[in-house]
Amino acid sequence: MGAVLVNSSEGHGVIEKAVWNVTDVESALEQLGAGNNATVISAADDGFFFPGFIDSHIHAPQYPNLGLFEGTLLDWLAKYTFPMESSLSTTQSPLYANSSTPPDPYARAKEVYTEVIAKTLAYGTTTASYFATIDVEATNILASLAYSMGQRAYIGRTCQDNQEYNPSYYKDESTAEAINNTWASINYIQSLDPTGDLVAPIVTPRFAPSCTNESMTALGEIANQTDLRLQMHISENVKEVALVAEMYPQQNSYAGVYDAHNLLTGRTVLAHGVHLSDDEMNLIAARGSGVSHCPASNSALGSGLCQVRKLLSKGIKVGLGTDAAGGYSPSMLENVRQAFLVSRTLSYLDNDNRTLDVPTTLALWLGTMGSAQVVSMEGRLGGFEPGMLWDVQEVSLHSDGPVKIFGWEEWYERVQKWVWNGGEENVMRVWVGGRLVSQRD
Ligand code: GUN
Ligand code: FE
Repeated sequence: MGAVLVNSSEGHGVIEKAVWNVTDVESALEQLGAGNNATVISAADDGFFFPGFIDSHIHAPQYPNLGLFEGTLLDWLAKYTFPMESSLSTTQSPLYANSSTPPDPYARAKEVYTEVIAKTLAYGTTTASYFATIDVEATNILASLAYSMGQRAYIGRTCQDNQEYNPSYYKDESTAEAINNTWASINYIQSLDPTGDLVAPIVTPRFAPSCTNESMTALGEIANQTDLRLQMHISENVKEVALVAEMYPQQNSYAGVYDAHNLLTGRTVLAHGVHLSDDEMNLIAARGSGVSHCPASNSALGSGLCQVRKLLSKGIKVGLGTDAAGGYSPSMLENVRQAFLVSRTLSYLDNDNRTLDVPTTLALWLGTMGSAQVVSMEGRLGGFEPGMLWDVQEVSLHSDGPVKIFGWEEWYERVQKWVWNGGEENVMRVWVGGRLVSQRD
């Protein structure tokens, strides 16, 4: 078995045609009637092409914290997340409280961001929607690196102007500063890639507690005026939901707080959405916003079980996110597995007797097609339809890797084996927009 993808000389970076089950490239080209200057890639006999994963929610500056948890969301943010993020910013970080010579935060940012991009590409993530930090320069470093390393990326400077909630060492000093810095980062990223095709800014009010009514209003105006994407956390943890209710008593729900500031648009990515009420789901569906399901994080931080099927049945777009480092792994394949397991647990708790209806397929769909919808790239990413962007991973089930194939397996069974035991070792080559951006030695 082999597979071939073809890209004509005119349509650089776009999949023109795909053929499967071919034995050699020549016969495939003949079958396709492809011209001489077509670009052709073919997968090895023990492998296949798969659409690049789209991580609809990941925190680049939390990469050094992978695997660290204590307590639940709000305690974890205070203990691990804010200190780490501030260490990649200009502000004083408690991580270096006892050091007379703290390292240069931008050198650290460059090192950490290079690693997170290289690692996620090696795992087959061709598009990522990143939360950066409050720091403009470090956020712009992340954008420049994604652009030069060739990962499709939406990059957001986090807005954190709430003087009561945010720690003194990690906050925007005023709403005006938060807005100025939001613009500074948007302008830089747009100058880097004026087309916005590869790298684009995404407006990022971190979550309601970190913002104020004033900054959320301003960010809603910016997003609606520029048509930029938006991303924020919503209803991840019960204590967080209670905190939002206390901080914003004028609104009757968490989704209502965002909606009051025009932050729920057709281009909004809402991370988690574990504890949404029916009314909130209906509101989100009416606004056309999407939810990023982050199963590894939700389980690791004890946040709860996201009702993915219910969200989908309400007509809400749902994609998949690693939420690294709330999630312990930057691998989307690991999150495909966790999405499956959460679905199984919910099915058991609901006692719904659902037959085992190919949930692997649903989980893989969430990480590709579903996420494409959530990051407003439906029809352009997530599959191999002609005209879609050439964002592809080549998977090989070679015998010295973790997936064991004996030869009797049907292809759908090989794919299942890949899902359950596959890893970085199985990702041979990765392309974004037709450019080879990662290759295993
Ligand atoms: N809510 C606000 N900030 C964060 C974060 O960094 N990670 C997660 N998982 N939830 C958040
Ligand atoms: Fe998150």
